[in-house]
Amino acid sequence: MSYPYQIKSLEQYKEAYKQSVDNPDLFWGNIGGYFQWKRRWEKVLEWNFTEPKIEWYKGAKLNITENCLDRHLKTLANTPAIIWEPNDPEEHHRVITYKDLYTKVCQFANVLKSNGVKKGDRVCIYMGMIPELAIAVLACARIGAIHSVIFGGFSAQSIADRLYDAQAEYIVTCDGAYRGAKDIPLKSVIDDALIGNRTVKRVIVCTRTRTAVSMIKGRDVWWEDEVKKVETLGLVDCPAEEMDAEDPLFILYTSGSTGKPKGVVHACAGYMVYTNYTFVNVFQYQRGDIHFCTADIGWITGHSYIVYGPLSAGGTSLMFEGIPTWPDAGRFWDIIDKFKVNILYTAPTAIRSLMGFGLGPLQGKNLSSLKILGTVGEPINEEAWHWYDEHIGKKKCPIVDTWWQTETGGILISNLAGVTLAKPSWATLPMPGVQPILVDENGKEVTEKEDGLYKGNLCIKAPWPSTIRTTYGDHERCKKNYFSTYENLYFTGDGALKDEEGNYRITGRVDDVLNVSGHRIGTAEVENAINMHAGVVESAVVGYPHDIKGQGIYAYVIFQGSHGDEAMRRKDILQTVTRIIGAIAKPDKIQFVSGLPKTRSGKIMRRILRKIAEGETQNLGDTTTLLDPGVVEEIKNGKI
Ligand code: WTA
Repeated sequence: MSYPYQIKSLEQYKEAYKQSVDNPDLFWGNIGGYFQWKRRWEKVLEWNFTEPKIEWYKGAKLNITENCLDRHLKTLANTPAIIWEPNDPEEHHRVITYKDLYTKVCQFANVLKSNGVKKGDRVCIYMGMIPELAIAVLACARIGAIHSVIFGGFSAQSIADRLYDAQAEYIVTCDGAYRGAKDIPLKSVIDDALIGNRTVKRVIVCTRTRTAVSMIKGRDVWWEDEVKKVETLGLVDCPAEEMDAEDPLFILYTSGSTGKPKGVVHACAGYMVYTNYTFVNVFQYQRGDIHFCTADIGWITGHSYIVYGPLSAGGTSLMFEGIPTWPDAGRFWDIIDKFKVNILYTAPTAIRSLMGFGLGPLQGKNLSSLKILGTVGEPINEEAWHWYDEHIGKKKCPIVDTWWQTETGGILISNLAGVTLAKPSWATLPMPGVQPILVDENGKEVTEKEDGLYKGNLCIKAPWPSTIRTTYGDHERCKKNYFSTYENLYFTGDGALKDEEGNYRITGRVDDVLNVSGHRIGTAEVENAINMHAGVVESAVVGYPHDIKGQGIYAYVIFQGSHGDEAMRRKDILQTVTRIIGAIAKPDKIQFVSGLPKTRSGKIMRRILRKIAEGETQNLGDTTTLLDPGVVEEIKNGKI
């Protein structure tokens, strides 16, 4: 059985696109017809970008897990829903069929309930990439609890901030996680995050690494024991909670240009429809295909294209616990051959890092099962694109370059594999329902070309079903961040180019958000962490081009303490950042300076710092407005 709404030709794409813009209600109403609802909607779309208030499938009732699990049981009960490959290639993999997954999700949903979790409660999930992570996510959705998954690389302090922001009362975690040669003591990080916390009532701990953990009486329980308890009670099924279309499904924290990470909120119905629609169309998913998305479920890519998109489509999702370079740089290729993977969806940073190992790790690898390749998370450079095409896809697999964001829930701009044209380093065309527009600084549509292309800030004119609904606990912030820069437009924070045919090329962030190895990190966040270190007076953080990571983190630091030498201070600062945010935010370079270039009004001139970090010290532009132009000379000539 195929998908009736799968676009099969360029003509069909054009038709679908036109209809989606001319009559979104009709278009998305039709797509909605392919899902299971407890009650139909009264109105497909109601919206304004001023408040903002966006409602899709208004009045409908549903549960996303009925669409991901129950409705497949008749025909796909014995089809693998999740194939799990462990970190250690010697350990046995697991195959979880739709029937198994249904049972496990119901069981764990009952565990959550018996531990007091109710509809609307926030459950923080901090786990490694094991099937129980997907099970925990779906179990929350089953009972209408709002999951907030936190990537395993974040520190105790980051978790504490997120727990507080979401006022979460429940945590699901593991004793530890395996990632390459490392064991990460997840529970112990949670224990640190919980020092002084009075909100969290229960921590459910799943066994993975058998690392020693402290289990606090009255607060901490073992996953396995709790499952046994509900089994003894004979609880097999768990009724799916009736959710309103607009009820929140999850919170996912992401970095912005100011302050602490914000909790992006997605709603049940629109998110379900859109992740499914994009999964089926972008990757041209066919029944039985094995889809391998290498992201972590701690990021939006994992939410949408490991869990909800594939499962709502009755697909088989391959989940990998480890990293691409362990035990060696051929690991992805081994996995592809082992399971005959058909679709590989990964990030440019992974491709570049594997490219660095040369063709050795590809020797003896077959890779002939691959049909479609995808990339996400950052702009892909042409060299990496061609390497991917030639050595992985053997020039026979279309590459989809998918542009989207945590806030957009699903892919907004991408070619459709083998259906619309690919163009190296271009995300190409908007998905049906997505209306991009390039604007200048004043919000005016860019209508003049520069070197043959339109160039501007990328905005979207109207909502698509999985548009961000709010930032948790602070709607004003959502409005200010995304809907206030330009009137009546959603502002993405990205810059883009557009050609005459309407193809888009994303050039990167135009705000103070960095994209390091495909991870979003705010410069303000890193500065705040550095500034926490005793002895640091002030700091400024910018990005610079990095061969593998895409962007590296460059920190200029004014230091006044007397402790240690420069090397020691550097290490201390790295340690501080690791504590406050996590190792992913560690600066690649730290330069000690005696001052920062500031305007007379005290604003740091980041433009100049960026140029110096890029090594472009010749052409710094106008520095006459600086309070102390001498400082630029010093920084230019400084060592790191
Ligand atoms: C960047 C990840 C170029 C972009 C799904 C965006 C990309 C940010 C692409 C969102 C792409 C993502 N080409 N840039 N194909 N995909 N980006 O929230 O800057 O982790 O704003 O979501 O990644 O990152 P996030």
